[in-house]
Amino acid sequence: MPESFRTLLDKDFADRRLIIVTNREPYIHKKTATGVKVDTPAGGVTAALDDVLKTTGGVWIAWGNGTADREVVNKQSEVEVPPDSPSYSLKRVWLTPSDVDNYYHGYSNRLLWPLSHIAMERVFFRKRFWHAYRRVNRLFADSVLEVIKGESDDLLWVHDYHLCLVPRLIREQLPDITISHFWHIPWPDWSVFRVCPQARELVEGLLGSDLLGFQIPLFVRNFMDCVRELLPEAEIDHHRQRIIYNGQTTELRAYPISIDFDKFDKEASKKTINRTIASLKRQYNIEGQFIGIGVDRLEYTKALIKRLQAIELFFEKYKRFLGRFTFVQIVTATRMKEPYLSYKKAVEDIVEKINKKYRRDHWKPVLYIEKKLSFHELVSFYRMADVGIVSSIYDGMNLVAKEFIASQVDCKGVLILSELAGAAEELDGAVLINPYDVEGFAEQIYRALRMPPDERRQRMESLRALIREKDIYRWITDVLSDMVDISGFKNKKCTYLKDVQAVLNEKVGDRKVFMFLDFDGTLTPIVETPEKAVLSEQMRDTLKRLSEVVPVAVISGRGLDDLRERVAVDGIYYAGNHGAEIYDGENVIISRETELERQRMKELIKRLKDSLGDIDGVILEDKGITTSVHFRRVKVKELSRLVRIFKDIIRDYSETFRVTTGKKVFEIRPLSAWNKGEALQWILQRYGDGRIPIYLGDDVTDEDAFKVVQGRGISIGVGLNCRVDYYLKDYKEVREFLEEVIRWLRR
Ligand code: UDP
Ligand code: G6P
Repeated sequence: MPESFRTLLDKDFADRRLIIVTNREPYIHKKTATGVKVDTPAGGVTAALDDVLKTTGGVWIAWGNGTADREVVNKQSEVEVPPDSPSYSLKRVWLTPSDVDNYYHGYSNRLLWPLSHIAMERVFFRKRFWHAYRRVNRLFADSVLEVIKGESDDLLWVHDYHLCLVPRLIREQLPDITISHFWHIPWPDWSVFRVCPQARELVEGLLGSDLLGFQIPLFVRNFMDCVRELLPEAEIDHHRQRIIYNGQTTELRAYPISIDFDKFDKEASKKTINRTIASLKRQYNIEGQFIGIGVDRLEYTKALIKRLQAIELFFEKYKRFLGRFTFVQIVTATRMKEPYLSYKKAVEDIVEKINKKYRRDHWKPVLYIEKKLSFHELVSFYRMADVGIVSSIYDGMNLVAKEFIASQVDCKGVLILSELAGAAEELDGAVLINPYDVEGFAEQIYRALRMPPDERRQRMESLRALIREKDIYRWITDVLSDMVDISGFKNKKCTYLKDVQAVLNEKVGDRKVFMFLDFDGTLTPIVETPEKAVLSEQMRDTLKRLSEVVPVAVISGRGLDDLRERVAVDGIYYAGNHGAEIYDGENVIISRETELERQRMKELIKRLKDSLGDIDGVILEDKGITTSVHFRRVKVKELSRLVRIFKDIIRDYSETFRVTTGKKVFEIRPLSAWNKGEALQWILQRYGDGRIPIYLGDDVTDEDAFKVVQGRGISIGVGLNCRVDYYLKDYKEVREFLEEVIRWLRR
């Protein structure tokens, strides 16, 4: 478990609960001939979240659908799980058979699921589906309200398409609680989503949340477009990815979900695994074969039929693989109603057809295993495979792709991945396919099987490094830290700065102030490229008048000359390069760069230029002492490559430079150079004359300054910023605030 996750747990979850709400439950109690047995379902969501709650503790609310579920719960319908070492409570919601038909099989799986996966011909709707969906969402909300009573620090995390209405239903009862919703599947674009008869109600339901998570940035954009079309009265801030609707602010973010890399890696590295692999190969008669693997719920969005057609075509074209390659398809049946029943039959038919066509002696081309394997067996199959295949026609993420990678400890397997799965955005190193292009797909299977060992290793090593770093704990830490920050805001640890005069009267009173301001995003709007940032004439005028009544310093990550040119107001202090260069109105008084740093920076910039040059949209801003790598305009698909190359290069300079990440930018500066907090402190000590600092900033690099100010002055975040005393919504409000300060000082 990474340090950042541990710290988050210790600091923020010692005295608050995490409450998770999903349709599917993580543990199912079943009646069997030998007594009650506990099972876990197949599916990405429950596996990931169980890992979360096992560490944070808390409550999980879900539909109790096991045959023995009612037998094991207490009066509140709760049972402690996991059964072998209980660490959280599972509270069950009971549904009638008609609810299950209409809310689960109906509205969720025959309307929302195919719609979100753009499988339009499968979309099917009945009014009774919607009535049940509303009723069941209310049941889930009631269950949440039984757990959270009145005012509370609890964090509520609702999941997926079954429960769109829960956030608003809870918000109506508990206005101050922090609610997040994570949408695990794709969010389609407006031309598709408009087909939904209750599009508006669903989106309104979700906008009861404080934070809405999606798998990839494309889905965030699609959601914002749908809101624009459906709720013209909503205020949408595309840049900050924020929507204000009905007085509720909802932050939108992409958090690509992942897996517990170490768990798979460790299992696959166990000594016993070789024995299991040998015995599975013997059992299934696949010794001495090239092996391909697919692991899926029996689910049409995974395109099993297209995959099998590609395999058939592959054998037709490359006959020399007959008898030498076996494709192992492991499946678990879920949602066993139409259209899944017909789909299951169609998959089985095509498997039978291919096997009949090509079977020889003891060999058959497709080994079809319909059963939920043990974890050890699953990992054994992943590890023994030469090729892993994921062929979704559309997929939020796809965890099987990541599990395959984490189990490939020998780095000999190749991942064939649909470019239409969310995972394709990140998994640079996979062989991409378009599942609709069956011929191209067959060719890629051939290419993967013929790929030289060196190339396989190289690709797999880089994929493994990626998942190792971006594992499930990273995902949880990212989401939960944002929830904790938002909850900080809501619990008035940080308030909206409304009545400026009152705040200044209270916090400053008779004392004198020193005004410190960040530049980009605080005095100007954030723009696509740094050179486009322009200070408006009104803001310049405000700054001039402000500097007549109070000392003012502008502290920025920009180079000093650039900053002075852009602000162009005399008689104020400027700190450029995060304070490495300070101008006091007459001289540049600090420049702490050494000759060695200068040389190393030159060399580094050259290497970055050479290696990142072919990625469209990267901007290298050479600011002398420091350098910024901007990637606001880089295509999402290219981002992981950019980050990998950048990190590889910067690793060689870790003894000279440090890197901080801002809004779509890496800032590189000497270890010896100051941060904005140190710059502020220095200016204040030298010129402050006992004045109280007020600092306004909007980005990560401003946090050092906020820290210095806290307890002795006023820290003000522009946009959603954590750990500040107050916040303003955007740069426009900054000008109004500065005008208020001028008025107050002249009073
Ligand atoms: N899974 C499994 N056995 C199966 C099929 C799937 O254990 O026969 C598990 C698989 O290991 C993965 C999850 O179910 O953890 C599937 O997650 P994914 O994101 O790939 O697809 P989803 O089913 O959530 O759409
Ligand atoms: C996907 C959905 C989950 C769901 C899982 C299994 O991963 O995003 O919400 O739990 O499939 O489907 P099921 O209908 O069996 O719960």
